[in-house]
Amino acid sequence: MKKYILGIETSCDDTSVALVDSNGFVKGIQTTSQDVLNDKYGGVYPEFASRAHVVNIIPAIDKLILDAKINVEKDIEAIAVTRGPGLIGSLIIGVHTAKTLGLAWSKKVIGINHLRGHLASAALGGNQIVYPAIILLVSGGHTFIAYMDENGEIDLLGETRDDSLGEAYDKVGRMLDLKFPAGPKIDQLALLGKPNIKLPLPLINEGLEFSFSGLKSSVARLIEKSDTPINKEDLCASFVDVIVKILEKKLLLALKNKPETKSLILVGGVAASKQIRAMAENITNAKKIELSLPPIKWATDNGAMIAMAGWDYLSKGKIQDSKPIARISLEEY
Ligand code: KG4
Ligand code: ZN
Repeated sequence: MKKYILGIETSCDDTSVALVDSNGFVKGIQTTSQDVLNDKYGGVYPEFASRAHVVNIIPAIDKLILDAKINVEKDIEAIAVTRGPGLIGSLIIGVHTAKTLGLAWSKKVIGINHLRGHLASAALGGNQIVYPAIILLVSGGHTFIAYMDENGEIDLLGETRDDSLGEAYDKVGRMLDLKFPAGPKIDQLALLGKPNIKLPLPLINEGLEFSFSGLKSSVARLIEKSDTPINKEDLCASFVDVIVKILEKKLLLALKNKPETKSLILVGGVAASKQIRAMAENITNAKKIELSLPPIKWATDNGAMIAMAGWDYLSKGKIQDSKPIARISLEEY
């Protein structure tokens, strides 16, 4: 009989719960965003975020289970919940909900590293990931390139020295009066403009590390100095062009350093970017390796990726203590 893992994600601002089977089929998902709150305050405020999770989480789980018409006792294998990294107040709400349901329903509760949740998003929908793989994770909280072997061991190859890539998108978006989170809007505007504004390419020739804070400041200076209103479409096109060039260069270097690589995994909220996805597709076609991507709708934080990671943890016997922790490194489970 088909079994599902209930995945619970509350590490930042989205309250998301989902039911996923061991093949990556998403039986149901409920996500309550806090976009209205975030937009009002220009970003995520931890105190408001955790209060909103308290209000949203039980109705979301109720609706998920009702809509999916499942029998909790028979059909749920386990509960997987993000234990970190993330905002501690938000994590506590998800973890305590998971533990309470675990007790009430007599189900195992598996604490998940949110970053491994993003990795698992590439396996949603039945996609088989091949290893060894180069991982590019670009989100609102993280930006790094890593190497993952057949056993799930992860080796960090390079990360950002300052802002994450998602932060750079969101901060540039704020300069252009775009709604938070600005990533999707910047991508759309970029498609309408020309990349004719010169911007720096920070650390492009320096190994596998990233830096986006200087790029963000350059955009701010450009807007400040310009006598006439800046063309938003061209600025977005130039910004995205620079990002794509930087990511492409780093990916090619990582693949050169690890010639045995069989696939590229592109995950994290910024992996929803059509331009970045197209670049990754070009690279993997040219190198004749596999590309694993989450569907766009599951690139940003969601409960389905946490449930999918739950199946991976179960198969490896990694049943974690689900204590919430604000900081967990990528290598950990
Ligand atoms: O993975 P995620 O949902 O949250 C974290 O774990 O941080 O990532 C959120 C980030 C935001 O910065 C948002 O602007 C960015 O992902 N994002 C995008 C796109 N959709 C979301 N960035 C570029 N293009 C997009 N289409
Ligand atoms: Zn995330």
